[in-house]
Amino acid sequence: MGLVSVLMISFCVLSISLIGSDNTVLGIPTTLDGPFKPVTVPLDQTFRGHAVDLPDTDPRVRRIVQGFEPEQISVSLSTTHDSVWVSWITGDFQIGESIKPLNPKTVASVVRYGRLRFPLVHKATGHSLVYNQLYPFVGLQNYTSGIIHHARLTGLKPNTLYYYQCGDPLIPAMSSTYYFKTMPASGPKSYPSRIAIVGDLGLTYNTTSTVDHMIGNSPDLVLLVGDVCYANLYLTNGTGADCYSCSFSQTPIHETYQPRWDYWGRYMQPVTSKNSNNGGRRKS
Ligand SMILES: *[C@@H]1O[C@H](CO)[C@@H](O)[C@H](O)[C@H]1NC(C)=O
Ligand SMILES: *[C@@H]1O[C@H](CO)[C@@H](O)[C@H](O)[C@H]1NC(C)=O
Ligand SMILES: *[C@@H]1O[C@H](CO)[C@@H](O)[C@H](O)[C@H]1NC(C)=O
Repeated sequence: MGLVSVLMISFCVLSISLIGSDNTVLGIPTTLDGPFKPVTVPLDQTFRGHAVDLPDTDPRVRRIVQGFEPEQISVSLSTTHDSVWVSWITGDFQIGESIKPLNPKTVASVVRYGRLRFPLVHKATGHSLVYNQLYPFVGLQNYTSGIIHHARLTGLKPNTLYYYQCGDPLIPAMSSTYYFKTMPASGPKSYPSRIAIVGDLGLTYNTTSTVDHMIGNSPDLVLLVGDVCYANLYLTNGTGADCYSCSFSQTPIHETYQPRWDYWGRYMQPVTSKNSNNGGRRKS
């Protein structure tokens, strides 16, 4: 299991001052004062291992939507400040025997958005897919995801708050209204002032203290640099271990428990629905 690492960087354009131990005034430098020598902090070895998973009974990982209402909603940076991707899931995953993949064509991928909460005057249409994790061994459970939707919003103004709803307006199954702020147009003196960079998050009680710390610092941008969560530390029946090969050395194939991804997507929605981030989804 990777090590949780989080770094809050504050690029202060206004000059904020600290008083040093010798009473000298130290300004917090901005990136424009750099380049700086990288500073690394040695790993506290007591942080390794012993992380306790958030169980599937935790309210933060449970499915709270009905029918084909969107869940696991996430906003990701696109290539330029004037566009973002909105992603979400509809329909529940299935795991076990004789699973039946959902047909992505049955649920539309629509985002309504605008600078006013009401009416949401713009509309973007996207695409959708499902993925399956099938094991050709007796006793191993197969997985099929809910329908995964992606839509790209374009023509956005920089540094601007947008409201949005995603889903299928005809079923009808639209999400609640969420909002995000676009990045500033990039320039030597124009960039997001608070960036959270986090990797190897996982989905344990330690993840929750990391994410709470991150939210408490109100980042403008969250960079999810990977790993994300660890479906690969489980058997298909949901039994997990800190080290797969140590605990499950007799399995015919390296199993995974894909619902951990859904739990992570649900748990992270308060962050991902709001902050532009570059989180890859569904990597293992
Ligand atoms: C899982 O899918 C594979 C490939 O289709 C199939 O051979 C296997 O029997 C399925 N397993 C279960 C438990 O349904
Ligand atoms: C991780 O969480 C456990 C409780 O599940 C706690 O005892 C431990 O101190 C936490 N570790 C760190 C590094 O915060
Ligand atoms: C999952 O499978 C393992 C290995 O066969 C077994 O030890 C464990 O009890 C099973 N867990 C559940 C929840 O069925």
